[in-house]
Amino acid sequence: MTHEGLDPRELESVSPRTGNLALRTAEFDDVDQLDALHGHPRWLRPVFVDPSFGPGSFTVVVDGNRVVSSACLQQLTVAVDGLEVPGGQPEWIGTLAEYRNRGLVRAQLDELHRRSAERGDLVQVIGGIDYFYRQFGYAYAISVAPWRRLDPATTVPATSGWTVRPAVPADARAIEAAESTRRSAARLTLYGPSPWPRRLAAGRYHLVVAERAGEVFGVASVERPDHLGGAVRLELLCATEGAAYWALIDHVRDQGQAVVIEAHPHVAPFIDTVATAYEDRPGLYVRVPDPGALLERLAPVLGRRLAASEFADATGKLRISTYRSVIDIDYDHGEVGSVAQSGHPENPDGRLPAVPPDHLAELIFGRWGASALAERYDDVTLASEGPLMDVLFPMLVADAT
Ligand SMILES: CC(C)(COP(=O)(O)OP(=O)(O)OC[C@H]1O[C@@H](n2cnc3c(N)ncnc32)[C@H](O)[C@@H]1OP(=O)(O)O)[C@@H](O)C(=O)NCCC(=O)NCCS
Repeated sequence: MTHEGLDPRELESVSPRTGNLALRTAEFDDVDQLDALHGHPRWLRPVFVDPSFGPGSFTVVVDGNRVVSSACLQQLTVAVDGLEVPGGQPEWIGTLAEYRNRGLVRAQLDELHRRSAERGDLVQVIGGIDYFYRQFGYAYAISVAPWRRLDPATTVPATSGWTVRPAVPADARAIEAAESTRRSAARLTLYGPSPWPRRLAAGRYHLVVAERAGEVFGVASVERPDHLGGAVRLELLCATEGAAYWALIDHVRDQGQAVVIEAHPHVAPFIDTVATAYEDRPGLYVRVPDPGALLERLAPVLGRRLAASEFADATGKLRISTYRSVIDIDYDHGEVGSVAQSGHPENPDGRLPAVPPDHLAELIFGRWGASALAERYDDVTLASEGPLMDVLFPMLVADAT
């Protein structure tokens, strides 16, 4: 049995409440216990046989041979205006009821954050339970598309020539193409290694594809969550063209039910003419361990934003106080030359724009846009740099499924 990863002594130092428990990397034989832990028989096997995932991306805490807690770190790319930032996505987090509140998830996240930093990730992202992840340095920093609703009586464009049928594993490539088309419409996108072969093999989703003349153009998973009172929710909806969206929507609408849809930037133009606002969604949790390094990585994007703005011909240095340090962004005729973060907390007379460390990720990933961020939080100020900050840090909505 291998015991890579955290030294058990480290676990003890994390929490004195952990007794004789040990933290290690998962092994294939843990699969049934992990299914039991997460309450879903056969969910983990497709994940464990997926070469881009596998047991090596999981940590478990064991009490003897019993797996009592787990976490996992998936690879994640966060692309901002097309520039890819390496990241990690903690997932499959859970602890058996009788082992909770003993620091087991905290210890595993510490280990996963260490692994993530070691492989060069500049950001971690989680979609998860309210408040919990704030305790580990996360903030709600990425906005995702809201839900829209179509009434059963809504008239939608004709969809003759289209067939909607259950998806099969051979559809993976066409579905990936549809997803990539959808993604291309968003300025902020989050994606890992393709989940489609795994999703199609797992049979966990009710996936349907839209087909015309034998060719697949779109996909959706059809869910009927109890809380929607009979409405159908189309999730994972993506298509290479508008007609395929309508074919998928029409398929479920024909059954006389309201349809709830995620209004991704690619989807919204097709449905916003007939759909009504339904529900905003909570932001994604984001952790940025080194904001200076992330901004340096994003320098070409910041430069392009300047080049497309009223600051295209300007030269200068934007200094942003984080109250704990200062971030200097040098720009010159639509290019950002250097970004440096130094431990210099001075902000004489409040002349510098100031963003505390816990709101920097919201600024960088455009949760609200710079001016709206300053309106929202008392200790975020833009000083005299409001117009420049708004150009560099606009509001963005992510394509994130
Ligand atoms: C939420 C859950 C993962 C926490 O696991 P855990 O091993 O008890 O977590 P930890 O003990 O490491 O928690 C770290 C801290 O958060 C606290 N905490 C635990 N559960 C919490 C919750 N639901 N909300 C807020 N804080 C919580 C702990 O008391 C601990 O505080 P401390 O470090 O100040 O002592 C676990 O309760 C669980 O499996 N719940 C059901 C499944 C689930 O919701 N999974 C999350 C999917 S995103």
